[in-house]
Amino acid sequence: MDQPPHPALPLVTTVADLRQTVGAWKRQGLTVGFVPTMGALHEGHLTLVREAGQQADRVVASVFVNPTQFAAHEDLGSYPRQEARDAELLAGAGCHLMFAPTTDEMYPEGFSTGVSVGGPAEGLETNFRPHFFGGVAVVVAKLLNQVQADVAVFGEKDYQQLMVVRRMVRDLDIPTRIVGAPTQRDGYGLALSSRNAYLSADEIEVARRLNGILALAAADATAGGSVAEIEAEATKSLLTAGFTKVDYVAIRQADSLATFDDDRVDRPGRILAAAWLGKTRLIDNMAVPAG
Ligand code: PAF
Repeated sequence: MDQPPHPALPLVTTVADLRQTVGAWKRQGLTVGFVPTMGALHEGHLTLVREAGQQADRVVASVFVNPTQFAAHEDLGSYPRQEARDAELLAGAGCHLMFAPTTDEMYPEGFSTGVSVGGPAEGLETNFRPHFFGGVAVVVAKLLNQVQADVAVFGEKDYQQLMVVRRMVRDLDIPTRIVGAPTQRDGYGLALSSRNAYLSADEIEVARRLNGILALAAADATAGGSVAEIEAEATKSLLTAGFTKVDYVAIRQADSLATFDDDRVDRPGRILAAAWLGKTRLIDNMAVPAG
């Protein structure tokens, strides 16, 4: 056991120590919940921890800024790191163990294994961040193997990631149940995200428009409008609102993330968007009920 950054929350940094603690819980007949994070925690993460606490007797949260899911030009170096505060927040949310491995622990010299997920990983984020789901799949597969939890909770905020993790866990027979938890928003509907910390006061005002624009588009799609036209209209609205660039606005089938063949939402859908405010890229999504 390592020196904890918060007195109320034990910390482990090695897989061996993690397994020892989780193994002891399991021998006592306790169930284990898991929440993977990259730290810089906010209320959205804490909701996941509380959900895990509802689903299991003990909760492990990992804090690991995973280098393999960042491209060279992305914000790995500047990604916010605040381990002591994270530990305090986790303790307050009912977490029982923080797992904060080093990069060497996760990716020892000679590490050479990849995990490639197709299906829901194709398109959307992958068109703009081709490295992303490869990195996420490897680290999540490793973390699930390391923790051996009964249940793991992921946020719907990263909806495509949630679908990719579900598919990987199913395809690889990983014995952990995956639970999706609803996106947490501020009082104006802005999805909570660690990257919101990069936004200026003016940018936050614009960012708060994203949710409303997606909600209008979702309602139009449910009412039977053309998916392609609604996507184009929402893209225009985001640019008019002050977003500097829109990577995508896409309405897809909710589970597979496949496109709608007939340009109409005829089964449960999801609208997903990624848009830029200066140097900050925001993502959001919401349900599109079938009309
Ligand atoms: O969603 C995140 O914070 C990360 O992608 C995850 C799941 C912790 C993997 O690094």
